[in-house]
Amino acid sequence: MFKVGIITASDKGSKGEREDISGKTIKEIMSSRDYRVVEWKILPDEREKISKELINMCDNLCLDLVLTTGGTGFSPRDWTPEATLDVIDRQAPGISEAMRYYSLQITPKAMLSRGVSGIRGETLVINLPGSPKAVKENLGFILPALKHGLEILKGLTSECARK
Ligand code: MTE
Repeated sequence: MFKVGIITASDKGSKGEREDISGKTIKEIMSSRDYRVVEWKILPDEREKISKELINMCDNLCLDLVLTTGGTGFSPRDWTPEATLDVIDRQAPGISEAMRYYSLQITPKAMLSRGVSGIRGETLVINLPGSPKAVKENLGFILPALKHGLEILKGLTSECARK
């Protein structure tokens, strides 16, 4: 089972003023598949706090996958993509491109998510938008290819099956 961490970026959530439904949605969806959620943090929308926790989840907890939710839009407090770019070694743009491509077929507002995806060491980091609806939809789009990507990242499978 792949080990997953969740980071919810939300000023209100971090102060206990709003329930973290999006983080809960990620936990429910991932736990119902081949994934074990082992860490879940709610942080204020602060670039440095988010990047520090990403480093902790990647380097200390050695998680296979970190899913963030929130802070990908245009608000002056939305810094999750920048916090992610601060710590990843390699970008995995196809994941975020796929999320925007499929999401645009649901809402034109999907173009407003600036989320990025990338790899730090042996951990894949993916930014999801903030609403529970967006989380559910976007996970639905990426889950079919995610396990294969993680297996390659972890060296569990050496090449794509050619049929
Ligand atoms: N993607 C999907 N699939 N469904 C959605 O409802 N909402 C959009 C977008 N992506 C949405 C979506 C909206 S309204 C915004 S503002 C951006 O994600 C950024 O969201 P965030 O700032 O909460 O991260």
